[in-house]
Amino acid sequence: MRKLITILGIETSCDETAAAVVADGKRILSNIIASQVKWHRKFSGVVPEIASRKHVELISPVIEEALLEANVTLGDIDAVAVTQGPGLVGALLVGLSVAKGISYATKTPLICVNHIEAHILANFLEYPNLKPPLVALVVSGGHTAIVYMKDFGEYEVLGETLDDAAGEAFDKVAKFLDLGYPGGPVIDELAVKGNPQAINFPRAMIRRDNYDFSLSGLKTAVFNYVSRVKAEGKQINIPDICASFQAAVIDVQIYKILRAVREKDVDKIVLAGGVAANKSLRERLQNEATKEGKELFYSSPLLCTDNAAMIACAGYFKFKEGKTCALDANAEPNLSLVDEP
Ligand code: KG4
Ligand code: ZN
Repeated sequence: MRKLITILGIETSCDETAAAVVADGKRILSNIIASQVKWHRKFSGVVPEIASRKHVELISPVIEEALLEANVTLGDIDAVAVTQGPGLVGALLVGLSVAKGISYATKTPLICVNHIEAHILANFLEYPNLKPPLVALVVSGGHTAIVYMKDFGEYEVLGETLDDAAGEAFDKVAKFLDLGYPGGPVIDELAVKGNPQAINFPRAMIRRDNYDFSLSGLKTAVFNYVSRVKAEGKQINIPDICASFQAAVIDVQIYKILRAVREKDVDKIVLAGGVAANKSLRERLQNEATKEGKELFYSSPLLCTDNAAMIACAGYFKFKEGKTCALDANAEPNLSLVDEP
């Protein structure tokens, strides 16, 4: 029987210290995530220096736990896959240095992974029969993009945010409303009790003939609305604000992803990144996709937000193509999806 290819994945691009062991790019043997949220919460956002220092403390125990849970040793690993970028440089360097050390000590190949590609490929863990071509909406704390995946390793970024990322907008609005950090899940919950039509927030760039997004104006519109209502001595309705803000974000995303799917003439849509965990986005996009006869794929919330199983999965596809990395590879905080790491 063919031996399964076992990959250790390491992810430290932002504020999750994560390690996972994945066999053949689809069987998750372990997926350990140490969230740093409690240290960043009081700043309502990720503090890069705290993130790097916490990665240094947490990375070894997290890797040990991932190996233990997978019931493997470093000797059983065929390759080490690690996030090379994009992300916070000091945070990326921790994972990359540890991965190099393991690769050197175990004489196994080092595989450098693009974090955005890994978010898309997380769906291949959940749906092992999924195949490109497809169009993906990648919405996270750091990124908002529509990506055409023609084949494995062949990407075209159709459009991106010109300012704030979707998750960043959720986090900033939640901070302004004093709802806590991270803001996405809180707004998602509160929006369920609100009316999405209560306030008509702007749908920036919805009619533009491109796939770009702009979210900073929407965030300012929320701030202005709240200040005006308070100045009039009235009570603000938090669930209505959350539902209306969320609807404005989602309307533009759905409009543009459907246009991309038609233009590229593909029948599969993939939702990826932390914001892909949003219930309303999933439901509404599912309805629209069904109406258009397209298939929608999204994974469980644990695989949407940052994790190392998606890094090991992306590493597997590169390993199969012999795309390994030299030990002098550097962290690339602005790595683009079309660069070949
Ligand atoms: O993918 P991720 O874990 O990290 C980055 O690569 O950025 O995404 C984190 C982002 C945060 O901004 C968080 O507020 C947002 O994803 N998020 C959500 C939800 N869950 C997480 N946004 C909207 N609705 C959610 N349910
Ligand atoms: Zn991410």
